[in-house]
Amino acid sequence: MSRIHSSSDARRLAKRRLPWMVFDYIDGAAGNEYAEGANRKLLQALQLQPRILNNVEHRSLAVDVFGKVAKLPFGVSPIGMCNLASPKADEWLAKHAATHHIPCGVSTAASSSLESMAQWSEGHAWFQLYFSGNEQSSRALVERAQVAGYETLVLTVDVPEVGRRPRELRRGFKMPFAMGPAQVLDFALHPRWSLATLLHGKPELANFGGKYGEFERTASRAGADWSLLERIRSWWKGNLVVKGVLSAEDAVRLKACGVDAIQVSSHGGRQLDSGPAPIQCLAQIRQVLGAEYPLFYDSGLRSGEDIVKAYACGASFVFFARPLLFAMAAEGQKGLDTLSDVLATEASLTLAQLGVTGLDQVGMNSLVNAGDVLASA
Ligand SMILES: Cc1cc2nc3c(=O)[nH]c(=O)nc-3n(C[C@H](O)[C@H](O)[C@H](O)COP(=O)(O)O)c2cc1C
Repeated sequence: MSRIHSSSDARRLAKRRLPWMVFDYIDGAAGNEYAEGANRKLLQALQLQPRILNNVEHRSLAVDVFGKVAKLPFGVSPIGMCNLASPKADEWLAKHAATHHIPCGVSTAASSSLESMAQWSEGHAWFQLYFSGNEQSSRALVERAQVAGYETLVLTVDVPEVGRRPRELRRGFKMPFAMGPAQVLDFALHPRWSLATLLHGKPELANFGGKYGEFERTASRAGADWSLLERIRSWWKGNLVVKGVLSAEDAVRLKACGVDAIQVSSHGGRQLDSGPAPIQCLAQIRQVLGAEYPLFYDSGLRSGEDIVKAYACGASFVFFARPLLFAMAAEGQKGLDTLSDVLATEASLTLAQLGVTGLDQVGMNSLVNAGDVLASA
């Protein structure tokens, strides 16, 4: 029997299991974590409008993403060093994507090779690129992803410099780990995680070396600019998603540059502590891009009701990161399956309450006074 009945259960159980350093790497955000908290408060403040006596017996959570049918309305956001949560986390996420036909982001800083992820996900993996500062090695990675059969490239643009995350700094989080007395104590007090990690070998960055260069987590990517985007667009013939957009003006320019989809995201509040709430930006960006343009969303989603709220604010598809890691840290692959099922069930029940049978039927009118609530943020 799983003990996960909500994403907060997963977080609570993971907190016990994970070394403090790893928990804080996953859970932490930039600065005082105001931005992360404010976005979640805004998601909570949005109220859904129930409607009655519509026949909602036959509901579907399927969503079209780049011409393919995702059987769940959410995917896996790219996450660096997933295997810190649990030694087989990457593999479980990719296989989950294969089972449900959902996109699985594969981070530049993934702890499994992009080829393994493509294979495990049966073609549902999307490669996420962080510009490395060295255009040749970035291009080599993009070409490698193409050869491995990736159809979608996600360019993350909200990390010109890595955000200051005090919880990581306090714990001395570094990749590779720097071991001191505090870390030895931390690992000793979390023996299940430590033994499993010892058994499988400590997670490493899996996509670097040789012509792909070395990945320095805190290296500057500040040289990336609009002309780099144009060059990436010319290298990459598949779907190009730009992730980490919070400005309507930037969104309009990205669409004009031939980007296939935009992912509205605050990087889970990990970059700018005084940034706007991404759920508010989502609604604004949807307005300027029109109803049809593919607009993805991540950051702060914790339930099926949150999923429905994001679609109501204009998302065409949404992604999760932390809750999935916590579910795997808590209960392994079973934890991932359970949480995914919880989120899907919650989303389906929410559709029933709203009197609709699919996510294509939710919109701003599914929310109570959405304009006022979003404007108040
Ligand atoms: C531990 C961790 C590692 C992450 N690594 C990456 C990454 O390598 N690339 C990327 O684009 N986003 C990365 N993100 C950001 C997520 O893709 C996503 O934007 C954000 O975490 C979503 O918010 P949520 O965690 O509230 O669901 C990471 C997030 C976390 C929590």
